[in-house]
Amino acid sequence: MKERTLSIIKPDGIARGLIGEVIKRFEQAGLKIVAMKMVRMSKEQAKEFYAVHKGRSYFEGLTDFMSSGPSVVMVLEADDVIARNRELMGATNYEEAAEGTIRREFATNERRNVVHGSDSPETAEFEIDYFFNAVELVGT
Ligand code: PPS
Repeated sequence: MKERTLSIIKPDGIARGLIGEVIKRFEQAGLKIVAMKMVRMSKEQAKEFYAVHKGRSYFEGLTDFMSSGPSVVMVLEADDVIARNRELMGATNYEEAAEGTIRREFATNERRNVVHGSDSPETAEFEIDYFFNAVELVGT
């Protein structure tokens, strides 16, 4: 069944010129981009977006980083896309990420891990709605 997920190319990915590299991997894997834009989150917006992580030790660092520069946000659509995107990204901790994954190849520490992807259908719905309205989502 077709599913949607939110993908973010994080500020480190933008600064290092990895937008094309990440998008190429999605396209080659058959994940269809149905919405895309560049945003610069404020600290408040980053805190809202990552609200489920509030209270964790990394929350301040994560939201500082995510508001430190522009990100590219995308909605990907495909069968089982949430799991497939997470497979392409690799584990959150890049040192544990499988060979050939985006994080294994490009992440430089646990904060600067290049990409974000929704981790469940519920999260995907919240995250997609956070950045995109109905007009911006291209139907397929
Ligand atoms: S996950 O993907 O939700 O299972 O990962 P999790 O381990 O819960 O981490 C959630 C997000 O927090 C980021 N993170 C950190 N950011 C900054 N500093 C430190 N130390 C740190 N540890 C974890 C991690 O990259 C996840 O970000 P997203 O954007 O969700 O991938």
